[in-house]
Amino acid sequence: MSDKKNLKGKVTVVGAGFYGSTTALRLAEYNLFETVVLTDIVEGKPEGLALDMNQSRSIEGFETKVVGATTTAEGGGYEATANSDVVVITAGLPRKPGMSRMDLIGVNAGIVRGVAENIAKHSPEAVIIVVSNPLDEMTALAQLATGFKKNKVMGQAGMLDTARFTNFVAEKLGVSVGSVKTLTLGSHGDTMVPVPSRCTVDGKALSTLLSEAEIAELVDRTRNGGAEVVALLKTGSAYYAPSAAAARMAKAVIEDSGEVMPVCAWVDGEYGIEGVYLGVEATIGKSGIIKVVEGSLAPSEVEALKAAAEAVRAKQADVKDL
Ligand code: NAI
Ligand code: 2OP
Repeated sequence: MSDKKNLKGKVTVVGAGFYGSTTALRLAEYNLFETVVLTDIVEGKPEGLALDMNQSRSIEGFETKVVGATTTAEGGGYEATANSDVVVITAGLPRKPGMSRMDLIGVNAGIVRGVAENIAKHSPEAVIIVVSNPLDEMTALAQLATGFKKNKVMGQAGMLDTARFTNFVAEKLGVSVGSVKTLTLGSHGDTMVPVPSRCTVDGKALSTLLSEAEIAELVDRTRNGGAEVVALLKTGSAYYAPSAAAARMAKAVIEDSGEVMPVCAWVDGEYGIEGVYLGVEATIGKSGIIKVVEGSLAPSEVEALKAAAEAVRAKQADVKDL
C-alpha cells in the first residue's frame, strides 16, 4: 500500500511533448515526489496529460499528484511551477532526419531563454536539468538566463549516451545490460567521447572481449545513437531512453543521493579544461552538481575530451546573443 506521507518535493517538467510527458510519467511512477508539474504552451495539453496520468495512479500504485499547466511566453501560468525543487526543461523543437542538433540552436535558444527566465522568477532555489538541444549550448544559456550558480544548472546527455553504449555492448556480446559498464563523456554532438577504457563486462575490460575494430564500430554507433532513432521515426526524436536519463537525474537531486553520473556540468580546471559546460562525471545531490569527478582516462580520451571542450566553447560563448 503506498503512503502519501513519504512523498517529498516538487518537480516541474517544462514542455509536454514526447520527452516531457514521458519524463513526467516516469517521475510520478517513482512515487517519490509530492507533486509533478507538467507545462506546455499548447493550451489544454499539459492539463489533459496530467489528468490521464493521475487516472493511472490506482493501477500503477503511486500517490504523486501530477498537475498540468498551460503557460505563455510572457510568463502566464508559471505560478503552478512555483517553488519547485527541480525543473527539467524539455521545451523546444526536436530534429528531423538529416538535421543536426546544432540546426535547432536559433529557435530553441529563444524558447529556452524565455522558459529559464520564468522559472528563475518562480523557483529561485531550483536545480535545473536541461534537455533541449543543442544540449551543451542550451545548458549554458539556461545558466545565463537564470543567473543561477553554475552548479545548480546541468544538462542531460551523458546518462543517455552511456546507456546507448551499454545497450550496444550488451547486444553485441549477448550478455545482460546489468553486467556491462560503459561511459560516454564530451559533447552531446559530433564531439561525443565514448570511453572504451572504462568499459567492462562482468568486471573484464572490453578490450579483452572485442577487437579494436569491433569496439570502434560500437563507439561510432553510440555517437550516432540519436540520429539512428530519428532516421527510423522520420519525425521527432528518441524519448524513452532520454526520459529515463533525465528522470534518474531529478531523482538523484531530490534524494540528495550523491550518485556519480555522466552529465553536462560546468568544468573549471578538471582535466586541464577551463570554464565550459561539458559532459563529465559528477556527483549529484540537492544542490545540483556537488563535484565534478575526474576519473581515469586513456591519454587519447583526455585529448578527445579537450577537443570536445574547445568545440563547444565557441558556440557557448555565442549563446548570450541568441
Ligand atoms: P516535442 O516536439 O514532442 O515536444 C516539445 C514540446 O515543447 C512541445 O509540446 C511544444 O509545444 C513545447 N514548447 C515549445 N515552446 C515551449 C515553451 N516556451 N514553454 C513550454 N513548452 C514549450 O519534442 P521532444 O521529443 O519532446 O523533444 C524536446 C527537446 O528535447 C528537443 O529539443 C529535442 O531535441 C531534445 N532532446 C534532447 C535529448 C538529450 O539527450 N538531451 C534527447 C532527446 C531529445
Ligand atoms: C538524442 O540523442 C536527439 O539528442 C537527441 O536522441
